[in-house]
Amino acid sequence: MASKTNLRKKLLASVMLVSLGFGTTLGNTPSDASAQKTPSYQNPGLDVEVRVADLLSRMTLEEKIGQMVQPERFSVTPEDIQHYGIGSVLSGGGSVPDENTPESWADMVDDFQQGALRTRLGIPIIYGVDAVHGHNNVQGATIFPHNIGLGAANDRDLMKRIGEATAEEVRATGISYTFAPTLAAPQNIRWGRTYEGYSEKPQIVSKLGPAIVEGLQGDPKKRDFLKGNHITSTIKHFVGDGLTEGGKDQGNVTEYTEEELKKHIKPYKDAIKAGARSVMITYSSINGLKTHGDYHMITEVLKGELGFTGFVISDYNGPQQIVPGDFRESIKRSINAGVDLFMIPNDWKRFLSTTKELVENGEVSTNRIDDAVTRILRVKFENGLFEEPFADRDLVAEGVGNADHRDIAREAVRKSQVLLKNNNNILPLDKNSSDLVVVGKKADNIGYQSGGWTISWQGSPQKDLTEGTTILEGIQEVAGTGSEITYSEDGSNISGHDAAIVVVGEEPYAEGQGDREDLHLSQEDIDLLNEVKASGTPMIVLLLSGRPMLVTDEIADWDAFVASWLPGTEGAGIADVLFGDYEFQGKLSYTWPKNMEQVNNHVKNDPLFRLGYGLKTKVGNGNQ
Ligand code: GLC
Repeated sequence: MASKTNLRKKLLASVMLVSLGFGTTLGNTPSDASAQKTPSYQNPGLDVEVRVADLLSRMTLEEKIGQMVQPERFSVTPEDIQHYGIGSVLSGGGSVPDENTPESWADMVDDFQQGALRTRLGIPIIYGVDAVHGHNNVQGATIFPHNIGLGAANDRDLMKRIGEATAEEVRATGISYTFAPTLAAPQNIRWGRTYEGYSEKPQIVSKLGPAIVEGLQGDPKKRDFLKGNHITSTIKHFVGDGLTEGGKDQGNVTEYTEEELKKHIKPYKDAIKAGARSVMITYSSINGLKTHGDYHMITEVLKGELGFTGFVISDYNGPQQIVPGDFRESIKRSINAGVDLFMIPNDWKRFLSTTKELVENGEVSTNRIDDAVTRILRVKFENGLFEEPFADRDLVAEGVGNADHRDIAREAVRKSQVLLKNNNNILPLDKNSSDLVVVGKKADNIGYQSGGWTISWQGSPQKDLTEGTTILEGIQEVAGTGSEITYSEDGSNISGHDAAIVVVGEEPYAEGQGDREDLHLSQEDIDLLNEVKASGTPMIVLLLSGRPMLVTDEIADWDAFVASWLPGTEGAGIADVLFGDYEFQGKLSYTWPKNMEQVNNHVKNDPLFRLGYGLKTKVGNGNQ
């Protein structure tokens, strides 16, 4: 008896064969003889460029424009995709199917795909998702440390393995395209997206970004490039998203000359060399010109000087910001600036009709449309979508969050921890005879340790947000039987222990919702720290944050201080270094300021801790 999965596979395959002209095609059946001969674009043995040219030559203007829009999953149906010839669909942050399981993700994407394959030419969709620290929308997926922690780890090989593991988990849900990695080098940590940047130093971004692109996509010279377990990456947000005045999200870049901007373009150049096939444009503007409408940056620099041959995608309703309130003018300027694929979650029908009218009026050239569609089709062929449009159900069955991936994530957590203070070598703790009290609600909460872009767009401080190990659970797991670990969520009953491990930090946030005028610890955290201080128990403070925070007034009371960043689901990686099973090796990839004046005035020469700072313990056993 064929399993449900095999039956589904057989059904999908027959839909595919029928739609590709092998038998009666649903919808408009081409009447001419060409329907009988296999068209070149359907021949995987031919060069991609030949297939692209053949397919483009067969397409109507409407079919071309359909390839240039990417609606949100909740605002489009498989029938819409068939009727309008839609070329791509996305899940924005937290936009998940009713049942958040790999199977239902794969079923959802395959249903959209069936609609695409029933179109006249059977052009498959490419489905995109923000897998920015693992496949973070999916329940049970491995959640890796956010990029600020990976910048502190600064390990190319680790980045590659994280990319490979993430790609496998994305494929396990039937998806072949992610909007990652971010290549920003944030210069003002007031920005809510600081944690999505590896470092303030573009050179570190240039080292790590290409590595994760290789992990996600595979080797451009190999047959499995973008295929099999590999997926298409997106380098973002081009360019200058982290350079805005005051760190304002989607703000204006005014303090950088074109020459200085080149330093921030370099990571894109390096990632393109590593094979990146999609670039997302930044919401921000340069000297008042929204980059979504910047012909010089997109066409002359990105496509010209950098020689980028993949496709350029807008950000979520990004083009409409060019001329607020004037949809037509905004779309016109953005297409003519060089954007190829438009992430228009809801107003996608308006995009189709507006773009058709712009072309018919001669305000957008057919050459520009052909360039956009050529780039989109090129990546779809490279991504193997014409040959494998549906989910690989064997991969789906393997599911997400497997032990090997969690081991990689735990290694990343270990390597990302930065030891900033260690008085009297209180660390590493003796794992076999310590009487420790772990303090604070953030010590036992997957939501706090994962931050934004986790299950939902903004993340949420839920203890069991998704499957993982909290910092407290990790300490309990790693500590030896001779140790005594107690937990105090509110800071009570602290006295009489060898040491208190106090976990403080930020509430989860994403994008502009994380923009801050002030970066001091919350009063709640300060009160907790004062409780512990009053007990006289030695304090080891762990900070869960998406950026350096102002601890100048408090740190004197602490015996040890570790920047833990946003470690994700594998909290045990922190215990690994606290107990000395592994040595601390993280180094700050951002300058740690003393006060807000230093943040606001970009003062780097007199910080609390300089970029590159990070201690080792004197007695760590040297495991890396
Ligand atoms: C968001 C972000 C971008 C993300 C996109 C899709 O607004 O700016 O990084 O990839 O929309 O969720």
